[in-house]
Amino acid sequence: MTILPIYICTDKVLRQKAADCAKPYSQYKALAENMIQTMYKAPGVGLAAPQIGVSLKLVVYDAGNGPVVLINPEILSSSEQTAAYEEGCLSVPDITAEIIRPASVKFKAFDLDGYKYEKEVTGMEARVVQHELDHLSGILFIDRLQPKDKPAIEKLLKKAGMKVAVQKTR
Ligand code: NI
Repeated sequence: MTILPIYICTDKVLRQKAADCAKPYSQYKALAENMIQTMYKAPGVGLAAPQIGVSLKLVVYDAGNGPVVLINPEILSSSEQTAAYEEGCLSVPDITAEIIRPASVKFKAFDLDGYKYEKEVTGMEARVVQHELDHLSGILFIDRLQPKDKPAIEKLLKKAGMKVAVQKTR
């Protein structure tokens, strides 16, 4: 088991679009296991491969029901209903902000054995999945700040030497 170094948002890898994982997906078992251990140690509820410097579409999370690994995940649909939730990120240390996102999403992904599945998630799990999938597109939660929070958070980011949020949309 290896605890991996976590990259922060000043690193380019956090702003890149991640590449697809290649078959067989079982080749990522050790990487996923190390990511899960790194996530628990941090501690965090989710970790995307770009956060450990690997630009691949691989995510691990634990929204309270044990560890889940997502290979090449993709959001299929999002609810119109939204929810507000205080988010943080291991790659944006010491900063949290209330972010508004769809309350539930349906996504597809593969597991490490190569099985494709679809799942509809809501609540905390929907929040984590959306946050982690954003990482695969080079998007951070600080790109999704509510206008009322932007000035204060940008000030904090600047103070911490972190790049000021770039406005991006999916
Ligand atoms: Ni994050």
